[in-house]
Amino acid sequence: FPSHDIQGYRILGYAMEFFYDLSVFFFILGMKWMIHPSTARKGNFTASLGMGLAMVATIFSEGMGNYGWIASGLMVGTGVGWWLSAKVKMTEMPQMVSLLNGFGGAAAMLIVVAEAIGLADGGVLLDLNAERFDGMAGGYGNSIAKIPEIFYHTLLMLNLVAGSVSFTGSMIAMGKLQGFVPGGSVRWPAQRFTNNGLLLLMLLGMIVYFQSGHWQFAIILGLCLAGLLFGVLFVMPIGGADMPVVISLLNSITGLTSALTGIIFDNQTMVMGGVLVGASGLLLTILMCNAMNRSLGAVLLGAFQSGAATGSERTIDTTIRETSVHDAAVLLAYARRVAIIPGYGLAVAQAQHAVHELELQLEERGVEVLYGIHPVAGRMPGHMNVLLAESDVSYDKLMEMERINPEFPKMDVVLVIGANDVVNPAAERDPGSPIYGMPILQVDRAAAVLVIKRSMNAGYAGIENELFYDPRTRMLFGDAKGVLQKLNSAVKEV
Ligand code: TAP
Repeated sequence: FPSHDIQGYRILGYAMEFFYDLSVFFFILGMKWMIHPSTARKGNFTASLGMGLAMVATIFSEGMGNYGWIASGLMVGTGVGWWLSAKVKMTEMPQMVSLLNGFGGAAAMLIVVAEAIGLADGGVLLDLNAERFDGMAGGYGNSIAKIPEIFYHTLLMLNLVAGSVSFTGSMIAMGKLQGFVPGGSVRWPAQRFTNNGLLLLMLLGMIVYFQSGHWQFAIILGLCLAGLLFGVLFVMPIGGADMPVVISLLNSITGLTSALTGIIFDNQTMVMGGVLVGASGLLLTILMCNAMNRSLGAVLLGAFQSGAATGSERTIDTTIRETSVHDAAVLLAYARRVAIIPGYGLAVAQAQHAVHELELQLEERGVEVLYGIHPVAGRMPGHMNVLLAESDVSYDKLMEMERINPEFPKMDVVLVIGANDVVNPAAERDPGSPIYGMPILQVDRAAAVLVIKRSMNAGYAGIENELFYDPRTRMLFGDAKGVLQKLNSAVKEV
C-alpha cells in the first residue's frame, strides 16, 4: 500500500491490528494447550503460528523496507532453526532454549544500539520534558503511542542492560551445559563485590546519561559492555545442574526486554508476548525452586553444597543388596501392581522405548503398571513426560507425585530407573541434608524396590541415598537401556 493512499493505509492498519490480536490469541491458546502432554504438540504449533502471523503483520507494516535484507535474515534464521531442531537431542534441549533466549537478549540490545547510532547521527537532543507522539516503528496501537521522553529513554536504558545481560548470561549457561565452559561453580575472590560493583556502575552510567541531557554514544556503549560483562560474571558462579533455573530466569528477563521493546515501538503484540514470556519464565523459576526446596537466592549465589559439606551427621548401614536380571524379572512378572520411577539416567540412556516395552509385557501378564513423575526429575521441566511421550506411553499412566505417593504402600514393586535425588528419603528424614524439605516420591513405602543405575555414584545433589541400602531394595547395576533390554528378554522367559 502506498503510504499516501489514506484508504489503503487504514485498511492496512486494521489488518495489522487484526493479525496482531489474532497472534496474541494464538499465544494464549498455545500456552493453555501446553499444560497437558496430550495437547502440548498442538499448543506448540498454535503458538508458533501466532509468532508467524505477528511476523507477517510486521513485515507488511507501514514504513517497512529493505525487503532483501529481511528475506535473507528470514531464510538464514529459518534454515538454522530447522537444522537445530532436527539435530538437537532431547537431553540437550535446555542449552537450545538458552541459545535461542540469548538471541532474544542480543536483539533487544542491538535495537537500542542501532537507535542510539541513529539518534546520535541526527544530533537529537534529549529533552526530558518533551513527549513522543509516535512509536518509532510507526505502530498502530494508539494507547501507548504518546509517551514522555524520559520514560522512553528509561525504557531504552533498561532494555539495553537487560538485553546484554540476558545475551551473555544465556551463552555462558549454554556453554556450561554443552561442556565448553567449566560446568561447576566458578568463583573468584570478592565475587559479590565485583558483581555488585558492576551493577552500581551501570546505575551510575544511567544517571550520567540523563544528567548529560543528550545522546552520548560512549555512555550507551559503556552500558552495553558492562551489561555483557555482568551476564558472564552473574552466571559463572552457578553450578551446571542449577542451569535450568537460571535459564528460566534469563528467559523471563528476555520476555521483559520484549515487552519493553514493544512499548518503545508501540507494538502491543510484542508487549503481550513479552509479558507472557516474562511471567511464565518467572513462575517456572519459582516452581522449580520450590520443587527443589531451594531459594532463588541460593541458586543465584551458586551456593549448592554437597551433604558432606553441610556435615550431615546421620550414619547409615551401607550394605548393598544386588540382584540378578532373572530374579528381578520374576519379581516383576509375578507382581500385581508395579510403579516405574524414571529419572535423569533414563534420559541419558535413551531407554524410553525399552521401558515402554517392559510396561507392555507386564500388562500382558495382567500386572497393573503406573509411572510416578516427580516435577524436577531429569534436568528440565516436563523432561520425563516428553521422554515417555516419545515412546508412546499412555498419558493416563503418568501420575504426578501428589497422586502416586498415597499409592506406594499398595505397590508390590517400585522400579526406579536412573532416578536418585527425587526418591531420596533423606529429604524427609535428615534435617542436615541439603535436600531436606524437598518433596519426594515416597518409594520406600512399597513392598519391594528395584533400582537400575550404573554405580553407587550420587545424583545431581551429590549426596548419599539411603534408599539404596534399604533391606527392601535390590540394585541392578548397568546402563538403563542395556539392563531394561535384558529384563525384557528375561520377563519373556519367566
Ligand atoms: P539425579 O538425582 O541426577 O540422578 C540420576 C541418576 O541416574 C544418577 O545417580 C546416575 O547414577 C544415574 N544414571 C546416569 N546415567 C545413567 C545411565 N546411562 N543408566 C542408568 N543410570 C544412569 O536425577 P533425578 O533423580 O532425576 O533428579 C533430578 C535432579 O536434578 C534433582 O536433584 C533436581 O533438583 C535437579 N534439577 C532438576 C531440574 C528439572 S527442572 N528437572 C532442574 C535443575 C536441577 P550412576 O552414575 O550410578 O549411573
